Amino acid sequence: MKQIIYNIGTLAGILDEGVLKLEGSRMNHVESISDAYLVVEDGIIAGLGSMDTLEGIGSDNETAYIDAKGGYVMPCFCDSHTHIVYAGCRDGEFRDKIAGLSYEEIAARGGGILNSADLLHATSEDELYRQSMERVNEIMAMGTGAVEIKSGYGLTVEDEIKMLRVIRRIKETSPLTVKANFLGAHAVGRAYKGRQDEYVDLVCNEMLPRVAEEGLADYVDVFCDAGFFTVEDTARILEKAAQYGIRPKIHANELEVSGGVQVGVRYEALSVDHLEKTTDAEIEALRGSGTMPTMLPGCSFFLGLPYGRAKDYIEAGLPVALASDYNPGSSPSGNMRFVMALGCIKMRLTPEQSFNACTINSAYAMGVSDILGSITVGKKANLIITKPIPSLAFISYCHQTPVIEKVLIH
Ligand code: NIG
Ligand code: FE
Repeated sequence: MKQIIYNIGTLAGILDEGVLKLEGSRMNHVESISDAYLVVEDGIIAGLGSMDTLEGIGSDNETAYIDAKGGYVMPCFCDSHTHIVYAGCRDGEFRDKIAGLSYEEIAARGGGILNSADLLHATSEDELYRQSMERVNEIMAMGTGAVEIKSGYGLTVEDEIKMLRVIRRIKETSPLTVKANFLGAHAVGRAYKGRQDEYVDLVCNEMLPRVAEEGLADYVDVFCDAGFFTVEDTARILEKAAQYGIRPKIHANELEVSGGVQVGVRYEALSVDHLEKTTDAEIEALRGSGTMPTMLPGCSFFLGLPYGRAKDYIEAGLPVALASDYNPGSSPSGNMRFVMALGCIKMRLTPEQSFNACTINSAYAMGVSDILGSITVGKKANLIITKPIPSLAFISYCHQTPVIEKVLIH
């Protein structure tokens, strides 16, 4: 089936084939054409051009015409870091947080991730799928076309497998492009309190083999941070995952400068994520690597943490991706427009840098930038059509104004 989107005010986010990420000053620019059309064939971008070269708009049996009415057309957001499969919510902890408790204090009282693990344990797989699909549909309506989803609220073999099966079901039933990340090492499960080494053994010797055998994970993750898992724990898990050919994406440097970036780079992580706490050593460690530094400004916003030093990374010639971290404890929102706005307002990225961080670079950070993240012939047509707006900057500037008119997935 052929579709032609015409009367596009600005077609934004055009990249040549083969560009998988944008680094340093290449993030400063968003290639666009005005008064454009876009051709889609069987869900794939097949052509584009200026309206004055488009002949004969009219309905025929083979082609559907979509009037963009002068709005922007741009690639959907790719959200490369989420925990959207979870049960219930943690609104009680929201009160604790307002009362002044830190994320670490809430976790130390047995709340936090362990609270979500208890809720998930008590929830059936079908119900977990139902609750999660509500969030999948929510983010899709806000313009997300691809999402990475982590496990990590199971923390027992059976509950981790349950979560990963729900992620697989989302992959099979939702139109979004989905990547699954096994995060058994999100926290030490309750039954292993005080026996962290034995829990890491469980992750390596029981969880990972099952996950690999059932083909449930595209990636492996570890929460490598103060009070959670050490660099040594992380290395053990990544070593084992490498035996199964599973590439890491790591939680690093949210609470402390943890060494997570360096161990991630050592094991060729696709991305290292959070980076609220970083020194120049992390920037140096990332130079020349294939690892995407990914920052999660929604988490900084919600927990009152410092924002990642995205500008310093870009000035050092590195790429930066942004993602939502949608989860019940540190970032209960999957709105990538808000993420893009925080990138501008709090991290002082230009609207163009923030846009590239939420599209092509976040596509790279979840391993899909060969098929998504830009307007490129041959890529999947995951597209946002906006109302007529004055500029690309407007999307971040007036980030609460409902400018998204339509989201087309594939
Ligand atoms: O990315 N930091 C670790 N994991 C999540 C939070 C998980 C939770 O609190 O439920 C994050 O912020
Ligand atoms: Fe996270």
